[in-house]
Amino acid sequence: MAGGEWAGHRRPLAPVARIVGCGLLVLLGGCSGGAPSTLDPAGTGARRVEGLWWLLFWISVVVFAEVMALLAWALVFRRRPDRRISRVEPTRFVVVAGAGVPFVILLAAYGVGLRDLAALRQPESPPAVTVDVTGHKWWWEVRYAGVDGATANEIRIPVGEPVRVRLRTVDVLHSFWVPQLMPKTDLIAGKVRETWLRAERPGEYRGQCAEYCGLQHAHMALQVVAQPRAEFDAWLARLAAPAATPDSDAERRGQQAFLQGTCVACHTVRGTAATGTVGPDLSTLGARWSLGAGAVPNDGGHLGGWIVNSQTVKPGNAMPPQPVDAAALPDLIAYLESLR
Ligand code: CUA
Repeated sequence: MAGGEWAGHRRPLAPVARIVGCGLLVLLGGCSGGAPSTLDPAGTGARRVEGLWWLLFWISVVVFAEVMALLAWALVFRRRPDRRISRVEPTRFVVVAGAGVPFVILLAAYGVGLRDLAALRQPESPPAVTVDVTGHKWWWEVRYAGVDGATANEIRIPVGEPVRVRLRTVDVLHSFWVPQLMPKTDLIAGKVRETWLRAERPGEYRGQCAEYCGLQHAHMALQVVAQPRAEFDAWLARLAAPAATPDSDAERRGQQAFLQGTCVACHTVRGTAATGTVGPDLSTLGARWSLGAGAVPNDGGHLGGWIVNSQTVKPGNAMPPQPVDAAALPDLIAYLESLR
Protein backbone atom coordinates (compact mmCIF):
# COMPACT_ATOMS: atom_id res chain seq x y z
CA MET A 1 0.00 0.00 0.00
CA ALA A 2 1.32 3.43 -0.90
CA GLY A 3 2.60 5.40 2.07
CA GLY A 4 0.68 8.49 0.96
CA GLU A 5 -2.70 6.95 1.73
CA TRP A 6 -1.65 6.52 5.36
CA ALA A 7 -0.06 9.94 5.65
CA GLY A 8 -1.53 13.01 7.30
CA HIS A 9 -4.81 13.15 9.13
CA ARG A 10 -6.69 10.71 6.88
CA ARG A 11 -6.02 7.60 8.92
CA PRO A 12 -9.41 6.71 10.28
CA LEU A 13 -8.35 3.18 11.22
CA ALA A 14 -5.24 4.14 13.19
CA PRO A 15 -6.93 4.52 16.62
CA VAL A 16 -8.91 1.32 16.05
CA ALA A 17 -5.72 -0.51 15.07
CA ARG A 18 -4.02 0.73 18.23
CA ILE A 19 -6.89 -0.39 20.44
CA VAL A 20 -7.06 -3.81 18.75
CA GLY A 21 -3.26 -4.09 18.97
CA CYS A 22 -3.27 -3.33 22.71
CA GLY A 23 -6.09 -5.82 23.23
CA LEU A 24 -4.15 -8.51 21.38
CA LEU A 25 -1.04 -7.79 23.46
CA VAL A 26 -3.06 -8.21 26.64
CA LEU A 27 -4.55 -11.47 25.36
CA LEU A 28 -1.16 -12.79 24.20
CA GLY A 29 0.26 -11.93 27.61
CA GLY A 30 -1.72 -14.91 28.92
CA CYS A 31 -0.24 -17.26 26.32
CA SER A 32 3.18 -17.94 27.84
CA GLY A 33 3.37 -21.71 28.05
CA GLY A 34 2.99 -23.27 31.45
CA ALA A 35 2.02 -20.06 33.20
CA PRO A 36 -0.18 -20.95 36.14
CA SER A 37 -3.70 -19.62 35.74
CA THR A 38 -6.46 -19.11 38.26
CA LEU A 39 -8.77 -20.16 35.43
CA ASP A 40 -7.16 -23.60 35.29
CA PRO A 41 -7.83 -24.66 38.88
CA ALA A 42 -6.56 -27.90 40.36
CA GLY A 43 -7.43 -27.24 43.97
CA THR A 44 -10.48 -26.61 46.14
CA GLY A 45 -9.62 -22.99 46.90
CA ALA A 46 -8.75 -22.03 43.33
CA ARG A 47 -11.96 -23.66 42.05
CA ARG A 48 -14.01 -21.36 44.26
CA VAL A 49 -12.05 -18.33 43.07
CA GLU A 50 -12.62 -19.41 39.48
CA GLY A 51 -16.39 -19.57 40.08
CA LEU A 52 -16.34 -16.04 41.51
CA TRP A 53 -14.22 -14.82 38.57
CA TRP A 54 -16.68 -16.12 35.99
CA LEU A 55 -19.66 -14.72 37.91
CA LEU A 56 -18.08 -11.24 37.94
CA PHE A 57 -17.05 -11.63 34.30
CA TRP A 58 -20.58 -12.41 33.10
CA ILE A 59 -22.07 -9.63 35.23
CA SER A 60 -19.58 -7.26 33.56
CA VAL A 61 -20.51 -8.56 30.10
CA VAL A 62 -24.23 -8.06 30.73
CA VAL A 63 -23.76 -4.58 32.21
CA PHE A 64 -21.42 -3.56 29.36
CA ALA A 65 -23.88 -4.81 26.72
CA GLU A 66 -26.74 -3.00 28.43
CA VAL A 67 -24.81 0.29 28.64
CA MET A 68 -23.80 0.03 24.99
CA ALA A 69 -27.42 -0.70 24.00
CA LEU A 70 -28.61 2.35 25.95
CA LEU A 71 -25.90 4.45 24.36
CA ALA A 72 -26.96 3.35 20.87
CA TRP A 73 -30.59 3.99 21.76
CA ALA A 74 -29.74 7.50 22.98
CA LEU A 75 -27.72 8.30 19.87
CA VAL A 76 -30.52 7.14 17.56
CA PHE A 77 -33.26 9.04 19.37
CA ARG A 78 -31.22 12.18 19.76
CA ARG A 79 -31.22 12.47 15.99
CA ARG A 80 -34.99 11.79 15.72
CA PRO A 81 -36.53 13.96 18.38
CA ASP A 82 -40.00 12.47 18.60
CA ARG A 83 -42.12 12.15 21.67
CA ARG A 84 -41.15 8.60 22.65
CA ILE A 85 -37.98 9.63 24.46
CA SER A 86 -39.81 12.08 26.68
CA ARG A 87 -42.07 9.31 27.99
CA VAL A 88 -39.22 8.09 30.19
CA GLU A 89 -38.94 10.24 33.27
CA PRO A 90 -35.21 11.19 33.30
CA THR A 91 -34.65 11.50 37.06
CA ARG A 92 -36.36 8.23 37.89
CA PHE A 93 -34.43 6.49 35.11
CA VAL A 94 -31.08 7.76 36.43
CA VAL A 95 -31.92 6.79 40.03
CA VAL A 96 -33.15 3.29 39.14
CA ALA A 97 -30.76 2.30 36.31
CA GLY A 98 -27.77 4.37 37.36
CA ALA A 99 -27.80 3.81 41.12
CA GLY A 100 -30.42 1.25 42.20
CA VAL A 101 -29.60 -1.58 39.79
CA PRO A 102 -25.77 -1.28 40.19
CA PHE A 103 -26.24 -1.20 43.97
CA VAL A 104 -28.21 -4.46 43.92
CA ILE A 105 -25.68 -6.12 41.56
CA LEU A 106 -22.64 -5.01 43.61
CA LEU A 107 -24.31 -6.02 46.88
CA ALA A 108 -25.07 -9.48 45.50
CA ALA A 109 -21.49 -9.87 44.20
CA TYR A 110 -20.16 -8.71 47.59
CA GLY A 111 -22.35 -11.28 49.33
CA VAL A 112 -21.05 -14.08 47.10
CA GLY A 113 -17.46 -12.88 47.75
CA LEU A 114 -18.03 -12.93 51.52
CA ARG A 115 -19.50 -16.43 51.28
CA ASP A 116 -16.43 -17.63 49.36
CA LEU A 117 -14.04 -15.93 51.80
CA ALA A 118 -15.75 -17.69 54.71
CA ALA A 119 -15.62 -21.03 52.88
CA LEU A 120 -11.89 -20.60 52.14
CA ARG A 121 -11.00 -19.89 55.74
CA GLN A 122 -10.99 -23.56 56.75
CA PRO A 123 -10.75 -26.79 54.77
CA GLU A 124 -13.69 -29.24 54.97
CA SER A 125 -11.66 -31.67 57.08
CA PRO A 126 -8.83 -30.98 59.53
CA PRO A 127 -5.42 -31.15 57.81
CA ALA A 128 -3.12 -34.00 58.77
CA VAL A 129 -0.01 -32.26 57.44
CA THR A 130 1.26 -28.83 58.46
CA VAL A 131 3.93 -26.98 56.47
CA ASP A 132 5.82 -24.02 57.92
CA VAL A 133 6.83 -21.61 55.18
CA THR A 134 9.11 -18.68 55.93
CA GLY A 135 9.63 -15.87 53.45
CA HIS A 136 13.16 -14.54 52.97
CA LYS A 137 14.48 -12.01 50.47
CA TRP A 138 14.14 -13.85 48.03
CA TRP A 139 13.39 -17.47 48.71
CA TRP A 140 11.02 -19.71 50.66
CA GLU A 141 12.18 -21.81 53.59
CA VAL A 142 9.99 -24.90 53.92
CA ARG A 143 9.70 -27.09 57.01
CA TYR A 144 7.15 -29.68 58.12
CA ALA A 145 5.71 -29.68 61.63
CA GLY A 146 7.22 -32.53 63.61
CA VAL A 147 9.93 -33.18 61.01
CA ASP A 148 13.52 -32.19 61.65
CA GLY A 149 14.67 -31.12 58.20
CA ALA A 150 14.12 -28.37 55.69
CA THR A 151 13.97 -27.68 52.01
CA ALA A 152 13.56 -24.53 49.97
CA ASN A 153 11.24 -23.23 47.27
CA GLU A 154 9.33 -26.49 47.01
CA ILE A 155 6.40 -27.83 48.96
CA ARG A 156 5.36 -31.43 48.59
CA ILE A 157 1.84 -32.36 49.57
CA PRO A 158 -0.21 -35.55 49.50
CA VAL A 159 -2.77 -35.32 46.71
CA GLY A 160 -6.43 -35.05 47.69
CA GLU A 161 -5.71 -34.05 51.31
CA PRO A 162 -5.94 -30.59 52.81
CA VAL A 163 -2.56 -29.32 54.03
CA ARG A 164 -2.22 -26.49 56.52
CA VAL A 165 0.35 -23.84 55.55
CA ARG A 166 1.68 -21.53 58.29
CA LEU A 167 3.35 -18.43 56.91
CA ARG A 168 5.99 -16.21 58.46
CA THR A 169 8.49 -13.67 57.14
CA VAL A 170 11.88 -12.77 58.57
CA ASP A 171 12.13 -9.49 56.68
CA VAL A 172 9.65 -7.62 54.48
CA LEU A 173 6.11 -8.33 53.30
CA HIS A 174 5.77 -11.25 50.90
CA SER A 175 2.66 -12.93 49.57
CA PHE A 176 2.18 -16.67 49.15
CA TRP A 177 0.25 -17.54 46.00
CA VAL A 178 -0.30 -20.80 44.15
CA PRO A 179 -2.79 -19.69 41.48
CA GLN A 180 -4.02 -23.16 40.56
CA LEU A 181 -4.54 -24.20 44.19
CA MET A 182 -5.29 -21.24 46.44
CA PRO A 183 -5.59 -17.44 46.47
CA LYS A 184 -2.94 -15.19 48.00
CA THR A 185 -2.07 -14.88 51.67
CA ASP A 186 0.28 -12.10 52.77
CA LEU A 187 3.25 -12.82 55.04
CA ILE A 188 3.42 -10.12 57.70
CA ALA A 189 6.40 -9.54 60.00
CA GLY A 190 5.71 -10.60 63.59
CA LYS A 191 2.59 -12.58 62.67
CA VAL A 192 1.84 -16.16 61.75
CA ARG A 193 -0.66 -16.27 58.90
CA GLU A 194 -2.43 -19.44 57.89
CA THR A 195 -3.79 -20.85 54.69
CA TRP A 196 -4.25 -24.34 53.28
CA LEU A 197 -3.76 -26.22 50.06
CA ARG A 198 -5.63 -29.15 48.60
CA ALA A 199 -4.68 -30.48 45.17
CA GLU A 200 -7.32 -32.50 43.35
CA ARG A 201 -4.86 -34.25 41.06
CA PRO A 202 -1.14 -35.07 41.17
CA GLY A 203 1.14 -32.57 39.48
CA GLU A 204 3.48 -29.65 39.83
CA TYR A 205 1.98 -26.26 40.54
CA ARG A 206 3.97 -23.10 40.34
CA GLY A 207 3.66 -20.59 43.13
CA GLN A 208 4.90 -17.03 43.20
CA CYS A 209 5.52 -14.27 45.68
CA ALA A 210 2.70 -11.87 44.88
CA GLU A 211 3.73 -8.86 46.93
CA TYR A 212 6.54 -6.63 45.66
CA CYS A 213 9.44 -7.29 48.04
CA GLY A 214 12.47 -5.76 46.35
CA LEU A 215 14.87 -6.27 43.49
CA GLN A 216 14.35 -10.02 43.01
CA HIS A 217 10.63 -10.20 43.77
CA ALA A 218 10.05 -11.83 40.36
CA HIS A 219 12.61 -14.52 41.23
CA MET A 220 10.78 -15.62 44.35
CA ALA A 221 8.93 -18.58 42.92
CA LEU A 222 8.15 -21.95 44.42
CA GLN A 223 6.80 -25.25 43.27
CA VAL A 224 4.08 -27.28 44.93
CA VAL A 225 4.30 -30.96 44.08
CA ALA A 226 1.18 -32.99 44.78
CA GLN A 227 1.92 -36.70 44.89
CA PRO A 228 0.28 -39.93 46.11
CA ARG A 229 0.39 -40.35 49.88
CA ALA A 230 2.96 -43.17 49.84
CA GLU A 231 5.38 -41.16 47.69
CA PHE A 232 4.89 -38.13 49.88
CA ASP A 233 5.59 -40.14 53.04
CA ALA A 234 8.77 -41.55 51.50
CA TRP A 235 9.91 -38.06 50.50
CA LEU A 236 9.17 -36.68 53.98
CA ALA A 237 11.18 -39.51 55.58
CA ARG A 238 14.04 -38.64 53.21
CA LEU A 239 13.82 -34.99 54.26
CA ALA A 240 14.17 -35.94 57.92
CA ALA A 241 17.12 -38.27 57.36
CA PRO A 242 20.79 -37.27 57.11
CA ALA A 243 21.89 -36.11 53.65
CA ALA A 244 23.23 -38.62 51.14
CA THR A 245 26.89 -39.53 51.65
CA PRO A 246 29.38 -39.20 48.76
CA ASP A 247 29.56 -42.20 46.40
CA SER A 248 32.55 -41.35 44.24
CA ASP A 249 35.97 -39.81 44.71
CA ALA A 250 34.85 -36.63 42.99
CA GLU A 251 31.92 -36.34 45.38
CA ARG A 252 34.17 -37.01 48.36
CA ARG A 253 36.58 -34.29 47.25
CA GLY A 254 33.59 -32.02 46.64
CA GLN A 255 32.30 -32.65 50.14
CA GLN A 256 35.67 -31.81 51.60
CA ALA A 257 35.84 -28.57 49.59
CA PHE A 258 32.33 -27.75 50.76
CA LEU A 259 33.05 -28.39 54.44
CA GLN A 260 36.38 -26.55 54.39
CA GLY A 261 35.01 -23.57 52.48
CA THR A 262 32.82 -20.70 53.52
CA CYS A 263 29.61 -22.54 52.51
CA VAL A 264 29.07 -23.97 56.00
CA ALA A 265 28.63 -20.54 57.52
CA CYS A 266 25.28 -20.14 55.78
CA HIS A 267 24.10 -23.59 54.67
CA THR A 268 23.11 -26.83 56.34
CA VAL A 269 23.76 -30.30 54.98
CA ARG A 270 22.20 -32.70 57.45
CA GLY A 271 24.62 -35.16 59.02
CA THR A 272 27.69 -33.00 58.33
CA ALA A 273 29.44 -30.13 60.10
CA ALA A 274 27.55 -27.66 57.87
CA THR A 275 24.84 -26.19 60.06
CA GLY A 276 24.44 -22.62 58.81
CA THR A 277 20.91 -21.26 58.76
CA VAL A 278 21.25 -18.02 56.80
CA GLY A 279 20.69 -19.62 53.40
CA PRO A 280 18.65 -22.59 52.20
CA ASP A 281 19.24 -26.08 53.62
CA LEU A 282 21.10 -27.97 50.88
CA SER A 283 20.50 -31.55 52.11
CA THR A 284 18.26 -32.35 49.11
CA LEU A 285 19.52 -29.68 46.70
CA GLY A 286 20.10 -32.10 43.81
CA ALA A 287 16.41 -33.04 43.69
CA ARG A 288 15.04 -29.52 43.53
CA TRP A 289 13.36 -28.03 40.47
CA SER A 290 15.43 -24.85 40.25
CA LEU A 291 18.21 -22.75 41.71
CA GLY A 292 17.59 -19.33 43.23
CA ALA A 293 13.82 -19.80 43.70
CA GLY A 294 13.03 -20.20 40.03
CA ALA A 295 15.92 -18.03 38.75
CA VAL A 296 17.64 -20.78 36.70
CA PRO A 297 17.25 -24.54 36.11
CA ASN A 298 18.98 -26.86 38.54
CA ASP A 299 21.80 -28.45 36.55
CA GLY A 300 25.58 -28.65 36.82
CA GLY A 301 26.32 -25.67 34.59
CA HIS A 302 23.94 -23.31 36.32
CA LEU A 303 25.02 -24.56 39.74
CA GLY A 304 28.68 -23.82 38.91
CA GLY A 305 27.77 -20.32 37.78
CA TRP A 306 25.67 -19.81 40.89
CA ILE A 307 28.47 -20.90 43.26
CA VAL A 308 31.15 -18.75 41.61
CA ASN A 309 29.04 -15.61 41.39
CA SER A 310 25.33 -15.82 41.98
CA GLN A 311 25.18 -12.04 41.74
CA THR A 312 25.39 -12.31 37.96
CA VAL A 313 22.40 -14.67 38.02
CA LYS A 314 20.25 -13.02 40.67
CA PRO A 315 21.69 -9.61 41.56
CA GLY A 316 21.11 -8.49 45.12
CA ASN A 317 20.68 -11.95 46.66
CA ALA A 318 22.40 -12.59 50.00
CA MET A 319 25.12 -14.94 48.69
CA PRO A 320 28.42 -13.20 47.90
CA PRO A 321 30.72 -14.44 45.07
CA GLN A 322 32.76 -17.46 46.21
CA PRO A 323 36.53 -17.75 45.71
CA VAL A 324 36.37 -21.37 44.55
CA ASP A 325 39.46 -22.96 43.01
CA ALA A 326 38.57 -23.70 39.36
CA ALA A 327 39.98 -27.23 39.69
CA ALA A 328 37.75 -27.95 42.70
CA LEU A 329 34.55 -26.60 41.15
CA PRO A 330 33.51 -29.75 39.22
CA ASP A 331 33.91 -31.82 42.43
CA LEU A 332 31.84 -29.33 44.40
CA ILE A 333 29.12 -29.44 41.75
CA ALA A 334 29.21 -33.25 41.71
CA TYR A 335 28.80 -33.38 45.49
CA LEU A 336 25.95 -30.86 45.69
CA GLU A 337 24.06 -32.48 42.80
CA SER A 338 24.40 -35.86 44.55
CA LEU A 339 22.42 -34.53 47.53
CA ARG A 340 19.01 -35.97 46.77
CU1 CUA B 1 8.74 -11.85 48.16
CU2 CUA B 1 7.83 -10.54 46.41
